[in-house]
Amino acid sequence: MPLIAPSMLAADFANLSSDIKMVNDSLADWFHLDVMDGVFVPNISFGIPVIKAINKIATKPLDVHLMIVQPERYFEQFKEAGADILSIHFEASANLIQSIKQINKLGMKAGIVLNPDTPVSVLEEVITEAYMILIMSVYPGFGGQKFIEHTINKIEELRKLITKKGSKALIEVDGGIDLLNCKRLVDAGADILVAGSTVFSSANPTTTITSLKNC
Ligand code: DX5
Ligand code: ZN
Repeated sequence: MPLIAPSMLAADFANLSSDIKMVNDSLADWFHLDVMDGVFVPNISFGIPVIKAINKIATKPLDVHLMIVQPERYFEQFKEAGADILSIHFEASANLIQSIKQINKLGMKAGIVLNPDTPVSVLEEVITEAYMILIMSVYPGFGGQKFIEHTINKIEELRKLITKKGSKALIEVDGGIDLLNCKRLVDAGADILVAGSTVFSSANPTTTITSLKNC
């Protein structure tokens, strides 16, 4: 069974506490929190104060996905805000290994994110250091986009690399995930599925989370 991480980007920001409670009471495993700076991606979402507020109510781990340039400037602040897993983009990190070590040293689990066009081969040297690899299955920046099919091959490739290197890294997939494609992602090797619009645009988000869990 995959872990399910609903993306709060698709939640109702005017009623955030009720959506957080829904996730708390559901079969979801983590909260996926998308931080965007308008520079690394062409959109601005929310930042540290909102994560702090979510952390007061959330009863499940906070999986924070940083889509920002120079993420290393903010690691401590995200730790203080309550991040359990902190993921940084390969494309945004000048010194990836050093950043992962810093995240670990602060007591968080480190994830490395790959954009749809970044090959899995860039992970050869770092795969054993990461807690998780996040494969973007849409171009980052917006919820509600269409799943990019060729990213399924990357999940399979990554699964092979993890085995080859004896790494324990988990595979998370993010973007355009729905009840029709989720099973193929799990079969390809995904451990964690992020879902925003599929969960929050559905008539019954709680049962949609259950369906994703059982996909
Ligand atoms: C996109 C974000 C995703 C997004 C997913 O940049 O990283 O987490 O919220 O939303 P859906 O599931 O709607 O594609
Ligand atoms: Zn995300």
